[in-house]
Amino acid sequence: MKAAFFVEHGGPDVLQYGDLPDPVAGPNEVLIDIHAASVNAADAKVRAGHYSQLTNFPYVLGRDFSGIVSAVGDGVDEFAIGDAVFGVCDVGQEGTYAEKIAMKAALIAKKPDSISHEDIVALGVAGLTAVITLEETLKLKAGETILIQGGAGGVAGLAIQLAKHMGAHVITTASASNHDYVRGLGADEIIDYNAVDFTEVVSGCDAVFDTVGGEVTQRSFSVLKPGGRAAFIASGGTAPPAPRSDVESLRPQVGRDRPHLERIIELLQAGAMTVPDITLYSLADAAEAHRVSESRHLRGKLVLKIR
Ligand SMILES: NC(=O)c1ccc[n+]([C@@H]2O[C@H](COP(=O)([O-])OP(=O)(O)OC[C@H]3O[C@@H](n4cnc5c(N)ncnc54)[C@H](OP(=O)(O)O)[C@@H]3O)[C@@H](O)[C@H]2O)c1
Repeated sequence: MKAAFFVEHGGPDVLQYGDLPDPVAGPNEVLIDIHAASVNAADAKVRAGHYSQLTNFPYVLGRDFSGIVSAVGDGVDEFAIGDAVFGVCDVGQEGTYAEKIAMKAALIAKKPDSISHEDIVALGVAGLTAVITLEETLKLKAGETILIQGGAGGVAGLAIQLAKHMGAHVITTASASNHDYVRGLGADEIIDYNAVDFTEVVSGCDAVFDTVGGEVTQRSFSVLKPGGRAAFIASGGTAPPAPRSDVESLRPQVGRDRPHLERIIELLQAGAMTVPDITLYSLADAAEAHRVSESRHLRGKLVLKIR
């Protein structure tokens, strides 16, 4: 199969396009012919060696996929060859920047015909993260006010829509060039973070969802009202310590399973979320997609169209 892979850590140029052996479906697994995979911000961090120094080269990145089942392993009876499916790899597994992947059947769901492979894959990791953070971690309620940091990004763009659907008042931060975009997603108030310090114009929030990290993380606590809660996905694997004792600091645990994938479909079909802006790349152009991802100023999602 063709794949985009790297054999040493480094910048985007270490990504190569070439042939690797086809995977085989083991027990309780299905083999999928991948049609689309998304580029997630974590991919560039893995490639650069920011998480850990890998030794299992050649290494294929990619955590979400949409495609067609091409073989089923022993013990799988809920999928058949030809089914259109999508999913997100188990924690610790990657490999969707490729024409094929073998996946545990429990981690995939059927893709409705009405949604393309390129569209649904944009709601893989990003969709799970937005849904789990708002519904399960922050437990956002109708009438609450939430500040969503980095509204034009992949996760935040879905979170804005879902928060509105849940009945919240949504404030977000974005560069001026993205204000029309985030308004279209449903944001009620938009702050140009390049021109205005959000801590000076926002206060009394019930919740914060920080998808930006860095210095934004600690400053986000100041906009919460007493009893408020904040969720962080861009500042490490654990919740950052809160500088005040009257608010909660939370780190969403984004599990991967079929019920959450089906929840994404349910929200899409209910019109609670639409597919974000998508920029398509070929698998051979994965390095260029990484350059854009690392710029941290992309809008929506970057998707590799593989077939
Ligand atoms: N399960 C998980 O733990 C999980 C899952 C997904 C993502 N993540 C992490 O969450 C973060 C976001 O991921 P993503 O894919 O949604 O990101 P992304 O799409 O790469 O985010 C890019 C966006 O960030 C915005 N941005 C950059 N600096 C900003 C600032 N100072 N204030 C406000 N907005 C700013 C940019 O907006 P402008 O162009 O408007 O400036 C751009 O639209 C990453 O660190 C990623 O690794 C974690």
